[in-house]
Order: sequence, then structure tokens, then C-alpha cells
Amino acid sequence: MSLFVTRLDADHERDRFDSGRPELDEWLRRHARTNDRRYSTARVWVLCDDDIAAGAVPIAYYTLSTHAVVHADVGQVGLPQLRQWPDPVPAVLLGRLAVAKSHQGRGLGTRLLRDAVEKVLAMQRHGAVVLFVVHAIDEQAADFYSARGFTRLTDVRLAARMKDLAANLSGH
Ligand SMILES: CC(C)(COP(=O)(O)OP(=O)(O)OC[C@H]1O[C@@H](n2cnc3c(N)ncnc32)[C@H](O)[C@@H]1OP(=O)(O)O)[C@@H](O)C(=O)NCCC(=O)NCCS
Repeated sequence: MSLFVTRLDADHERDRFDSGRPELDEWLRRHARTNDRRYSTARVWVLCDDDIAAGAVPIAYYTLSTHAVVHADVGQVGLPQLRQWPDPVPAVLLGRLAVAKSHQGRGLGTRLLRDAVEKVLAMQRHGAVVLFVVHAIDEQAADFYSARGFTRLTDVRLAARMKDLAANLSGH
């Protein structure tokens, strides 16, 4: 079994995805394709198995969108001399991250987070990104991100500086 990340397309069997969080499964089923292809509000990336039989059912997915964080929300992220930074601060948002229940706890969520950071590092060659923001669906998800170097911005959002992330993630 060899896993790879690819952009969501019409061949992926989204109906069978089950992360244990119905709102995240439902979004993948009903809204992911339109958000990505029609409205371009989020790029949707899926983790698949190259085994032909299993390949079409995503094992996990995440979304990336451009974003911005106003100074009032920057909090403890650690931007020294905040007044010298643009308001809002340029950012990217990992809006959703979900791993199939059958595959949770095996490092795939961490792997996808790293994959997302790598994509943003590549993006940064063309457009500046200061903060990588994540949306945490609950406290357990917030703990997952805190353990990987993220700091709370608001109730549901956490963030880390792009320049700090690559090093922090390599420890996991
Ligand atoms: C949170 C989630 C993405 C983590 O992915 P994962 O592949 O299970 O995570 P990993 O194996 O890489 O790492 C396990 C870590 O996740 C934490 N975790 C959070 N929720 C978990 C869950 N339901 N099952 C297993 N581990 C979970 C573990 O405590 C562990 O933390 P630690 O390494 O800091 O001690 C995944 O469990 C999931 O999809 N949960 C349901 C949806 C969700 O909560 N998404 C969060 C963002 S909106």
C-alpha cells in the first residue's frame, strides 16, 4: 500500500468517507467539489491509496484557502513589534482536516498537516504568507494542533508562523 495526496476530483468516492464527524463527511460529500472547482473558495486535497481497489475512496482530506488575520486576533502567535506588520497579516487557512475513523491514530493527520505546510512553502515563492491558520472543530482537535506548534488566536482558530512550522513538524 502506497499513499499519495492528490486534488479531489469526480472519480473519488466521497460517499463512503467516515471520519466520525458527520459535518466533515457531509462537507466532503456535498460541498467540496463546488467549493474547489466552481467557486474556488478552497482547494481540497485527498489522501488515497494507490491500490486500485481502494484508490477511489479517500482516506483523509484537508482544505487550503487564502486568509488574513487582523491584528486584534494575532494574540500570542509571536509577531514582534506588531505595528510594523500589515493589518491584516497575510495568511493561509487549513479549514478542514479529517482522517477516516479506520485510519486515525497512525500518523496520517500529522502527515497531511506537513503536506499542507509544504504546499504553502511552495506557494510562498509567488506570494507572501506569514501565518498558517487552522480551524479546530473541537478541543481535541485544538490539542492536536497545539502539540504541533500552533497557538490559539480565537475560540476556533489557531496559528503558527510559517517560518517556525517546518522545523516544529519535523519533530513529529
Ligand atoms: C484530529 C485528526 C485529524 C488527527 O489525525 P490522526 O491521523 O488521527 O492523527 P495522528 O495519528 O497524526 O496523531 C494522533 C494525535 O491526534 C490526536 N487525536 C485527536 N483526535 C483523535 C482521534 N479521533 N483519534 C486518534 N487521535 C486523535 C491524538 O491525541 C494524537 O495526539 P498527540 O500525537 O499530540 O499525542 C483525526 O483524528 C480526525 O480526523 N478526527 C476527526 C475530525 C477532526 O477532529 N478534525 C480536526 C480538524 S477540523
